[in-house]
Amino acid sequence: MEQSFSGRIAVITGAASGIGHTVAHHFAERGGRIVGVDLNDRVGEIVATLPGSGHVGLVKNLADPAAASEAIDEAVAAVGVPHILVNSAGLALLDPAVSVAPDRWQLTMDVNLSGTFYMAQAAGRVMLEAGYGRIINLASQAAVIGLDQHAAYCASKAAVIGLTHVLSLEWARSGVTVNAVSPTVVETPLGKAAWAGEKGEKAKADIPVGRFAQPEEVAALIAFLAGDDAAMITGSNYLIDGGFTTV
Ligand SMILES: NC(=O)c1ccc[n+]([C@@H]2O[C@H](COP(=O)([O-])OP(=O)(O)OC[C@H]3O[C@@H](n4cnc5c(N)ncnc54)[C@H](O)[C@@H]3O)[C@@H](O)[C@H]2O)c1
Repeated sequence: MEQSFSGRIAVITGAASGIGHTVAHHFAERGGRIVGVDLNDRVGEIVATLPGSGHVGLVKNLADPAAASEAIDEAVAAVGVPHILVNSAGLALLDPAVSVAPDRWQLTMDVNLSGTFYMAQAAGRVMLEAGYGRIINLASQAAVIGLDQHAAYCASKAAVIGLTHVLSLEWARSGVTVNAVSPTVVETPLGKAAWAGEKGEKAKADIPVGRFAQPEEVAALIAFLAGDDAAMITGSNYLIDGGFTTV
């Protein structure tokens, strides 16, 4: 039977766009209440259009370490202790390794890695107390293979997997699971910008299934990991890459 999210509170970073927005829609359609956290100042309006009611949008810049605990405090005050955290906020700044500028390296680490950590830490504190939690971190195929011009991105996503391992083992006995999901190119604004044109066509041809992933396919995997049936799964990294990293 498909997992219902009725009565579940899900904090989703990056909920204004792409995978985060699609995951928010998936949970909301099945009864979940969403707290969307995003840099985009329209996040409140965007989550208000999701199925159901009572969703909350919080405008936060997750490059700021203080933003995560503010977001979780505001989420708890508005709707209660979250059952689920999906860390989907992220960016891909692509440069040849020899010319990566310090500010672009740092921003990538601040959002993709530190933002993920501080959100998990803040959510973990209240989840551990509640004795239940599901945390899903968006990593990437770039976490397990090298990609041209992706030095900062690959490094940040590989670190997300290392972080996922540690949080999973520290929190396993308290009912809090922590997993990572690693898609190939997903057809979202981020994926389309990073893989436009000829480069994208070549990448698509190199994927054994012959296409990019759709956000709904990633949302379905995340929903499984966020559900009760996934209680035994923790510390894992799930590739959803059409076979790309196996070739
Ligand atoms: N699209 C892909 O091809 C792909 C592949 C593998 C992994 N991923 C990962 O999946 C996640 C979601 O990607 P997407 O394709 O949905 O991207 P997207 O650009 O469509 O959405 C990302 C969201 O994160 C938000 N965000 C960015 N910086 C932020 C910050 N400092 N604070 C708060 N919010 C911020 C943006 O405003 C946006 O709403 C990212 O972590 C990305 O690295 C994407």
